[in-house]
Amino acid sequence: MYLLIPAAGSGKRMGASRNKLLLPLFGKPIIAWTLLAAKAAPSIHWIGIVAQPEEWQDFRDIAAGLGMGRTVRLIPGGKTRQESVYNGLQELPAVAERVLIHDGARCLATPELFDRCSEALLHCAGLIAAIPVKDTIKIVAPGTEIIQSTPDRSQLWAAQTPQGFDVETLKRCHETGREMGWEVTDDAALFEHCGLAVRIVQGEETNLKVTTPVDLAIAEFILRDRQK
Ligand code: C5P
Repeated sequence: MYLLIPAAGSGKRMGASRNKLLLPLFGKPIIAWTLLAAKAAPSIHWIGIVAQPEEWQDFRDIAAGLGMGRTVRLIPGGKTRQESVYNGLQELPAVAERVLIHDGARCLATPELFDRCSEALLHCAGLIAAIPVKDTIKIVAPGTEIIQSTPDRSQLWAAQTPQGFDVETLKRCHETGREMGWEVTDDAALFEHCGLAVRIVQGEETNLKVTTPVDLAIAEFILRDRQK
């Protein structure tokens, strides 16, 4: 399976002055944990990291340190995650029929989750890892603090990555999204906008996206626990 890792974000919400994926977490850069999990998944045989060119050397050094120097390609990042994935899709080898996309910031995803998604992708054109929402979610009127509605929690799932797709179909969805000016925060949303079905694969509660400093502390706790 081909794997694209969007890793071209900044450290803004982390309060960091550089790409948060290069920050240390339990003795390694955050992205190293993501790469280790992908490396340990037998279904993954090709990895493209989408990152800003000025950080390529950092990513190369990290991949080399994990013995993955030869298997990892670097692809230029975009201004948004959507643009970064678009760039990644252009760089996939022509023979790639299916692709998993996994945020570099979800550094606690397990190899089993990658393999579960790879297997499920043999039977559908679009899927995402997701877990049922634990909180009650409120829709708030834009620019106000007034609740508009409370969606039925039993129908709500928290989207994670990996997300997996048929490559040609996802490329078409991205092109349509660019023409229509759709701005989305995951690739499944482009599939949905195009009226295509996206299946859910059971995700992992520990598969959090390291976004703010508290996430770093929780991630460290989980990694420490896994080493016991
Ligand atoms: O900012 P956030 O954590 O939601 O980003 C999700 C993923 O998308 C991260 O792994 C981040 O590095 C990546 N990203 C990207 N290009 C951007 C912005 C974010 O590849 N321009």
